[in-house]
Amino acid sequence: MSLHLEACVSDPTAGGLENLLSEDRRFPPSAEFVAQANATADLYSWANADRPAFWAEQARDLISWSTPFQEVLDWSQAPVARWFADGRLNAAYNAVDRHVEKGRGDRVALHFEGEGGDTRTITYADLQREVSKAANALTALGVGTGDRVAIYLPLIPEAVFTMLACARIGAPHSVVFGGFSAEALHSRILDAEATLVVTADGGFRRGAPSALKPAVDEALAKGPTSVEHVLVVKRTGQDVEWTEGRDVWWSDVVDPASDQHTPVEVDAEHPLFILYTSGTTGKPKGIFHTTGGYLTQAAYTHLNVFDLKPETDVYWCTADIGWITGHTYVVYGPLVNGATQVIYEGTPDTPHRGRWWEIIAKYGVTILYTAPTAIRTCMKWGEEIPGQFDLSSLRVLGSVGEPINPEAWMWYRRVIGGDKAPIVDTWWQTETGAIMISPLPGVTETKPGSAQVPLPGIAADVVDDDAHPVPNGAGGYLVLTEPWPAMLRGIWGDEERYKDTYWSRFRGLYFAGDGAKKDDDGDIWLLGRVDDVMNVSGHRLSTTEIESALVSHPWVAEAAVVGATDDTTGQAVVAFVILRGDAGVGESSPDEVQLELRNHVAKEIGPIAKPRQVLVVQELPKTRSGKIMRRLLRDVAEHRAVGDATTLADSSVMDLIAQGLSTPS
Ligand code: PRX
Repeated sequence: MSLHLEACVSDPTAGGLENLLSEDRRFPPSAEFVAQANATADLYSWANADRPAFWAEQARDLISWSTPFQEVLDWSQAPVARWFADGRLNAAYNAVDRHVEKGRGDRVALHFEGEGGDTRTITYADLQREVSKAANALTALGVGTGDRVAIYLPLIPEAVFTMLACARIGAPHSVVFGGFSAEALHSRILDAEATLVVTADGGFRRGAPSALKPAVDEALAKGPTSVEHVLVVKRTGQDVEWTEGRDVWWSDVVDPASDQHTPVEVDAEHPLFILYTSGTTGKPKGIFHTTGGYLTQAAYTHLNVFDLKPETDVYWCTADIGWITGHTYVVYGPLVNGATQVIYEGTPDTPHRGRWWEIIAKYGVTILYTAPTAIRTCMKWGEEIPGQFDLSSLRVLGSVGEPINPEAWMWYRRVIGGDKAPIVDTWWQTETGAIMISPLPGVTETKPGSAQVPLPGIAADVVDDDAHPVPNGAGGYLVLTEPWPAMLRGIWGDEERYKDTYWSRFRGLYFAGDGAKKDDDGDIWLLGRVDDVMNVSGHRLSTTEIESALVSHPWVAEAAVVGATDDTTGQAVVAFVILRGDAGVGESSPDEVQLELRNHVAKEIGPIAKPRQVLVVQELPKTRSGKIMRRLLRDVAEHRAVGDATTLADSSVMDLIAQGLSTPS
């Protein structure tokens, strides 16, 4: 793994973070907020006194167990943790049935807003019926406890029903983001050996139907898989190809199924889901999470970080269910806590740029959780747009996915939060399962741009190359020093890769892959990835994965990809390619080459991985051992003077690249 800590930490502007350490604005919580807050400062001392006992108490308080646990943490097989291992429970029962049993069946669970303006209101009692029907249908299609189900759906209620139906029968789900390609879907189906794919004819995107089913057909045509059935929701009504015997309509098997179903009791350590994320190699990692610990931390963080009051709040997390944020803070956290939430299918600018703010005004949203890239986009569109809507219901604002620059933080607070709603900048990862570092809104004096403090129950630090904690005012690597309930239990089918990736850099410490700095108060500021992982609009992309996609094109001999700072998306993909002499590029202009290669990456991985720029070069900068020096390419992509190139095998390469790029095409 190559690390770029030096570049990242010595240049605090990297990743769009301006003047971090001179940031001296402070926002203490208001007296009114403090008076009603769920979390108080004594949570920290309570958790510090006995961390496992603290988590056991949360697990008992927030989760219903069919068999109560006696064991709390078993770390004897470190780094694979077992939490509450002798307890048994069901995740869907916790998210749905128990609320109905407690007389809250009439509470709205989901306010669904389709992109075209169609809506559905789903109460907890409705949710219980829908999830039960889907669970019965899945069973009828041959899915048993332990079998894996791939989900490739737009953000429609059936996506939530399906995830919970899987949880109800103990079949781990593997949600694949609807924006990923057939190729990406295929490799995820193979890796998890899924027996069922749940999809839709399509979803609505930017005012038009966008097909999904053809990608499933294409994925399954790539070669034999373990898939027996494809369950298809009719959403857009577009024509679909049909494979008799394999494909079944949702309306034919789920709608008529019985709405009575008994949840399957599973062990606390039974896998709940697999979610693939990019690592530093070309092959995505199947991060897997189990049931009891994950649900405990999902519920605890959702309740305390967002100060949720399930009876009165209307919560909205804008993430898609294809990402971990959608798993923990659309599906499991809010529903386990019995919250009322909004889910929205479409994009923020359809049919107009005020759509999000219109939704907030319409439903009286009180808690909003979104990503810095969305905030920066709205800043660009202008504050008069949100200014046209009544946003006064908002009382807590959350940020996730990438460092939030102080300017965007201040805009979010002033324009969206009316200068009163506390902002929680939440740091976590697919691997951590739930929020790890964040202010508590009724406790912490917030600082624009900093995630600040590990939550009560979480232990994090910033260390130097030798694993020593750095002093305040210094930078280093973010590590997690104690096991936590929602931690990943491994990489699906590859225990060694789990150990190598997260536990080999610093002995006994979980290395997150992020650079960080402690300020003079000891608060943590995240500085971005230090490995070959990029963060584009809060989405993780691997440089290696995009490089492999590029070299799979017949024109490309070699490729190097870097994440360059971008004002809106945080980072943007910039690719440097060497074309093959015999490539057949022929008469294509540089613009045509660029277009062709950008589209090729979109087809291989998905539109989110499309490079912002593809630059054709004659040579790539390499060390004597043949390793590409991406740091130098990042300097070029960000229009900076090129840094120290003395370790290059051929030091004239950078001049050649610079000359090539400055030559008008
Ligand atoms: O680099 C960090 C960044 O996102 C990475 C995790 O990406 P993913 O697994 O896709 O999960 C995203 C949503 C939890 C981290 O390693 N990241 C996430 N949240 C923040 C952040 N960087 C800075 N500040 C954050 N609040």
